[in-house]
Amino acid sequence: ARPDALPRDLEGVRVVVSAGGTREPLDPVRYLGNRSSGKQGYALARVAAQRGAAVTLVAAHTLALPEPAGVDLVSVSTAEQLGKAVRTAAADADVVVMAAAVADFRPESLAEHKIKKADDGSAPVVTLARNPDILAGLVADRRPGQLIVGFAAETGDERGGVLDHARRKLARKGCDLLVVNAVGEGRAFEVEENTGWLLSADGEERKLPLGSKSQLAATLWDVVFQSLRR
Ligand code: CTP
Ligand code: CA
Repeated sequence: ARPDALPRDLEGVRVVVSAGGTREPLDPVRYLGNRSSGKQGYALARVAAQRGAAVTLVAAHTLALPEPAGVDLVSVSTAEQLGKAVRTAAADADVVVMAAAVADFRPESLAEHKIKKADDGSAPVVTLARNPDILAGLVADRRPGQLIVGFAAETGDERGGVLDHARRKLARKGCDLLVVNAVGEGRAFEVEENTGWLLSADGEERKLPLGSKSQLAATLWDVVFQSLRR
């Protein structure tokens, strides 16, 4: 065996991973977007495939990334398209990981033609509409035994620290696992840069070691593997 060979412990496991940032069109040339490199989702898909899983990667907009080998790649743009593709793939999946940065809002209407500047110097007002919560929908429709994983980037604020927000989000979303990245400056709370936790619905809280996106992927799949065995 190759010395760097990964365990084939996800053989027979069907997983769906979403990655990247969605774009919500305003007119034929403009959009409201979410910043996301897609690297974490791609690393999750790649590592899962290397460990033997059957992987569908639903990818919104990302940096130029190599397509992971042995993965079924579905390219999408908007939150609506991402939701549709993820729901379709989730219908016969054992694990769904929502690593995508999904736009919470979209322009309420899509202008048919490019919006032109007005002669009077005024600027248009864009009305936004809420996008549905894809993760919450997956939880509501989950198959028996299906494991659903969410991601969250949190800062502390006057309402609490990163972990307080993350615990509330896990409860609110109803997913099985939540990967939490502590970002930004949350003064006086437990925030450090580049730190994270993996919170389980059963109350278990693992501090994630500082590391690469591949390492985080390996840790997440370890925990998913243990959960599927239970
Ligand atoms: N998510 C989703 N559908 C949305 C928004 C978010 O499925 N419309 C998923 C993300 O992919 C992620 C998780 O929900 O896995 C948490 O996203 P986050 O933006 O942190 O949560 P929100 O509920 O949108 O809360 P916030 O107001 O903090 O943005
Ligand atoms: Ca959000």
